[in-house]
Amino acid sequence: MAPKITIHTPEEIEAMRRVGRLSSQLLDYITPFVKAGVSTLELDNLMDAYTENVLGAKSACKGYTPEGMTPYPRSTCISVNHVICHGIPSEKKILKNGDIVNIDVTIVKDGFFGDNSRMFIIGKPTVAGSRLVQAAFGCMWSGIEAVRPGNTFNDIGIACKRYCDALGLSIVHEYGGHGIGRVFHAEPHVSHVPLSIPTARFEPGMIFTVEPMVNAGRRHLTMLNDGWTVVTKDKSLSAQWELEVLVTETGYDILTVSEGTPEPPEWVKGWKKPSFA
Ligand code: MF3
Ligand code: CO
Ligand code: CO
Repeated sequence: MAPKITIHTPEEIEAMRRVGRLSSQLLDYITPFVKAGVSTLELDNLMDAYTENVLGAKSACKGYTPEGMTPYPRSTCISVNHVICHGIPSEKKILKNGDIVNIDVTIVKDGFFGDNSRMFIIGKPTVAGSRLVQAAFGCMWSGIEAVRPGNTFNDIGIACKRYCDALGLSIVHEYGGHGIGRVFHAEPHVSHVPLSIPTARFEPGMIFTVEPMVNAGRRHLTMLNDGWTVVTKDKSLSAQWELEVLVTETGYDILTVSEGTPEPPEWVKGWKKPSFA
């Protein structure tokens, strides 16, 4: 059965641009606070307050309860070093020199969701840490560059896999991107590795995330007893970036963009960061 993928109207796309920009601005806001000595709970509290008081939005994560899961207890996910995703902010988790940190935020405003994440390196980067963070960024963009009408979702996985194979890095299979709009996690599931089952063709108006989780070691994962935190089974470092992609008539556009959005790699052809002057 082919999944029903929402084709968004021009008005819905404008609403998704607005909330997407706000979710990116939330990462801009937190950037100067992401330093050695801060706890991940302090960062979560700052982002929760900014989301409500400045952005006029709400966290989509706090209390989020997918089937078979316990409610997610915090407003953001902060995943450090070998944590792949869904790291729960904690006063006990203090950032230290050399850590690689993913901050993943999803907010909801006027019924539309904005979801994106970036990596941060604390203090002096390690060689292994900065290589992996940069590789995960390139992996995400290689997947995004496969988006255009006529191609299929499988082309994202093919591109991401090829990129990481060349670097000897692995990609997590169990978690992927997702459609997004008036629903947080909508159809389709976006695999970052090739699938042997048929996938849908891109059509203008589709909106989804690309968010590959890239491991320095093997791809396998372990779920911690808290029911949320996902770590690499071999304790190797893991990195992830996430953007929202809109399929256009000729290619794609990025919806989670703001002043602080990093420039794409120089080989990216399909998108130029807008100027916010
Ligand atoms: N933001 C994550 C994603 O990219 C989902 C986090 S769900 C939570 O899909 F409950 F863990 F916050
Ligand atoms: Co997502
Ligand atoms: Co996310």
